[in-house]
Amino acid sequence: MEWTTDKVRSSFLDFFRERRHQIVPSASLVPKGDPTLLFTNAGMVPFKDYFLGIRTPEARRVADCQKCLRISGKHNDLEAVGRDTYHHTFFEMLGNWSFGDYYKAEAIAFHWELLTRVWRIDPRLLYATVYKDDFEAEDAWLKMNVLPRERILRFGEKDNFWEMGETGPCGPCSEIHIDRGAPACDGASHRGSACGVNVDGCARFIELGNLVFIQYNRDAAGNLSPLPMKHVDTGTGLERVTSVLQSFETGRLLGNYDIDVFQTIVREIERAAARLGEGARYGQGYDTDVSFRAIADHARAMCFLIAEGLVPGNTDRGYVLRRIVRRAARHGRYLGIKRPFLAQVELGVIAAMGGAYPELKEHEGKICEILTAEEERFGETLDRGLELIEAEKRRVGGAGDRVLSGEVAFKLYDTYGFPLDVTQDVLRDEGIQVDVAAFERLMAEQRERARSARREEIIAPELKLGGATASRFVGHDRLTGESEVLASHIGADGKAEIVVAETPFYPEGGGQVGDRGTIRTESGALIEITDTRKADGTIVHSGRLLQGDAGQVRPGVRVRLEVDRPRREAAMLNHSATHILHYALRDVLGTHVHQAGSLVAPDRLRFDFAHTGAISESDLREIEEEVNARIRENAAVVNEEMAYVDALKTGALAFFGEKYGDRVRVVRMGDFSVELCGGTHVSRTGDIGIFKLEAESGVAAGVRRIEAATGQGALEAIRKREEVLRAIGDQLRAKDGAALERLQRLLAREKELEKKLRTLEQKLATGGSAPADEDVRQVDGIKLVTRKLEGVEPAAMRGIADQIRTRYGSAVVALGSELASDKVALLVAVTPDLVGKVKAGDIIRQIAPIVGGSGGGRPDFAQAGGRDPQRLREALDKVGSLLGVK
Ligand code: ALA
Repeated sequence: MEWTTDKVRSSFLDFFRERRHQIVPSASLVPKGDPTLLFTNAGMVPFKDYFLGIRTPEARRVADCQKCLRISGKHNDLEAVGRDTYHHTFFEMLGNWSFGDYYKAEAIAFHWELLTRVWRIDPRLLYATVYKDDFEAEDAWLKMNVLPRERILRFGEKDNFWEMGETGPCGPCSEIHIDRGAPACDGASHRGSACGVNVDGCARFIELGNLVFIQYNRDAAGNLSPLPMKHVDTGTGLERVTSVLQSFETGRLLGNYDIDVFQTIVREIERAAARLGEGARYGQGYDTDVSFRAIADHARAMCFLIAEGLVPGNTDRGYVLRRIVRRAARHGRYLGIKRPFLAQVELGVIAAMGGAYPELKEHEGKICEILTAEEERFGETLDRGLELIEAEKRRVGGAGDRVLSGEVAFKLYDTYGFPLDVTQDVLRDEGIQVDVAAFERLMAEQRERARSARREEIIAPELKLGGATASRFVGHDRLTGESEVLASHIGADGKAEIVVAETPFYPEGGGQVGDRGTIRTESGALIEITDTRKADGTIVHSGRLLQGDAGQVRPGVRVRLEVDRPRREAAMLNHSATHILHYALRDVLGTHVHQAGSLVAPDRLRFDFAHTGAISESDLREIEEEVNARIRENAAVVNEEMAYVDALKTGALAFFGEKYGDRVRVVRMGDFSVELCGGTHVSRTGDIGIFKLEAESGVAAGVRRIEAATGQGALEAIRKREEVLRAIGDQLRAKDGAALERLQRLLAREKELEKKLRTLEQKLATGGSAPADEDVRQVDGIKLVTRKLEGVEPAAMRGIADQIRTRYGSAVVALGSELASDKVALLVAVTPDLVGKVKAGDIIRQIAPIVGGSGGGRPDFAQAGGRDPQRLREALDKVGSLLGVK
């Protein structure tokens, strides 16, 4: 096939490279530094700041192929995915841009040439659309003289005015559509009206490219303001163009899911269905095809999201990922697949797209691990949830309104882990609606319950908090202050909660623990503060009244506040170190590392982040080195408050889950770290002194944790270890290096002893019957028993000889034992009835020299030592011939 997806992609980039466009790689699906958007939903997202004039582009003409996800917000295609043959959540958007360079006429000319010359699409099949008031674009089309006037159509805002979201750059657009012919009409959905450009629900006329003329910015109030320069933003769905080109090539009418990339993935789903189900195949019926398409689509989205460092979670982006994995798992059940199978589908995604996107291969193991873990988790409740839905379907099926109650939807969510949209998806074909309002109400109630449970923990209801009690934190650069009590509650047991107008006490937040210290009134009451937290925008100090009475701490009273300085300073070191660690992790492991949580206490810090697989010793060392190098650099730490929009321009790392106000604090360290952070920090990185990594571990699939100490805490941790080493040295009676050597010797000796012990135990265990290595022969009517032993000391040999004598009643016993590489022992014993014929002492005297020894003894019992274990067997064999000789 000529027009493979890879070929279409490269032909587009080549075309614009030849027209002096800089080709850039796809940006990530998670937009950098833009918490207003969950995912990159169009090719222009990474360039938003260029349009707004916030940043200056390196090149004025750029082209790329951008990974996009339309799953939330203004552009959300999730519901349609699978049901038709052309919607996707994840897709690739080909785009070319002009940042204040060329405009409408050139943009239109470029696309016409691309479609008709490079991709060789018959112009007679094409249509153009323009925004109803955009005469400039209409003129550009007319002047080109490539399309008859009746195929240049005007449309309104809905179709021809493009906006990235509720706010942001936008403008009129011109689209190119293709007529794929009457057989492409799936008709049913546009109910009788004729097929046509921009008629929804039909695959006959489809858009092949959108050229947006960006000239406005829409602000939060909905107003449009003109931009300083005019730009071009274009988008062409790669899968769609490929399906058109492959249709021409094969002579068959192909949908997006029929192109090479999707077929590779679909084949893998079929393989999974054969292995784990009953062998469902694509193309055997609408219902199963919907599931095949949905799984193929979702599989691409989830693989790319995980490759970028996302893990399934319960909020924001993590929840989107969880929803699509669960949706896909549900569709898997519909194909009869009862076990985790998405890791196998991942193989198809990698086979189809790994060439163009190496990150898929790089993170193959992580994707597999996370998908399987999530599927297993959901698999435990999926069947029971589906049963519940079936039962409800039967119940409401007959009813007139056909609505699933909010309670059931909530139970499915809360107990069975069904995201609302999975429940809706399951019911959609039956035409059953979910009472979403009631569901939302129950969700809100649950959130409120959790919130008030948290509040009750920290605030006595008697502490009346209202708008008048909002207090200000002033402790960024001071640890003492004076203020006035706004609200207070002192319990009978002395438990105190106090709100003041202005406080240097840091309330727990951003991972950093709340401050401790004291509050004193002018009249001499003293309250020890053991924790400070924020509740409903108010800073609450809680602790215990140590001196004075409740009356002295009433509202209006002036107080002096003093933060426990060493404790706060230690926490500051750890907080600043956390930022440096975040930077170092991204530097060493890659920019997929995102903070997932942190704890900043005075004595330690804990940092959780998205990353899969244990971190190697050498990487850990490099991270520790990097952090310490930045500490020694003694970079200035600048902590400033600014408008949120300005903060974004600094490129500060921000967390999507966080709610930021209009004004935010930006913490900048040297030239390596910028983060939005309300915590407290050192003034120079050198204040941290030293950073010592303590532990690295995994806390959930795809989330790692690093624990570390700084400053005094690090020193103490190092000392503690030194003490342990010293104690070990003392026990071993050896110092430093010698201790290790001594320990190694002890361990070797222990091993040797263990071996001996095992041999002995074995011997004891087999003492009652003849062991396998016992050689018993008759020589001239005398029973001769010989045995070669290992590591059995002479004393123990005596016991063995006695056992043998008892066992056989009448015998000559000859034992040899190998004690070391240069040490053997021999023993000969004779039962009393034979002493007349055989003398043990005589025998030993003759065999001992063979092993380089000598010995002697009584007629019934004799022992000898020797030095040559190699000849032990020979010595024992000799006994037989000695008896024979007699
Ligand atoms: N930004 C335009 C789109 O997404 C090109 O359609």
